[in-house]
Amino acid sequence: MEKKVTYEMYQPSEMANFMNAMYAYNLQVKNQIIAGETPVAMPLDLMTLHSAEMTEGKGRTRAWNSFVNVFITSQQKVIDTMSNLQLKERHNAAINNCLSCHKTECVGPIPKIKKLLIQ
Ligand code: HEC
Repeated sequence: MEKKVTYEMYQPSEMANFMNAMYAYNLQVKNQIIAGETPVAMPLDLMTLHSAEMTEGKGRTRAWNSFVNVFITSQQKVIDTMSNLQLKERHNAAINNCLSCHKTECVGPIPKIKKLLIQ
């Protein structure tokens, strides 16, 4: 008898990949700030948040739309050398905006994202 085995390959969505890239970037920024360095580059195109395909079942809900631009602005401010707010505060503000959206749109990664905050 023939036995059929099918493997469900986990295919991360374009958005999931981008989220992981944002995570990696912000971990690097956190480490730079702790080391007393000033991050000056933001290599990710944040407009991808408006265009990337999402995992089935996820979508750009009203909550998503209300959080996304607030987040983008705060993420851009981290490398704004003209800002008179402390670097650490700007970084934590961006991460808290990741968390605001995640509280309704995708709760799973919240513990991981919290680790990006600088105490
Ligand atoms: C506007 C809402 C929103 C913001 C802001 C946001 N996320 Fe997400 N995040 C989501 C949604 C929705 C998903 C699920 C995407 C999917 O599966 O297609 C997700 C997924 C993730 C994942 C899981 C990816 C995977 O492998 O499945 C991580 C990690 C993540 N986000 C980290 C972050 C970090 C770090 C930030 C801030 C730098 C951030 N997110 C900002 C809504 C948001």
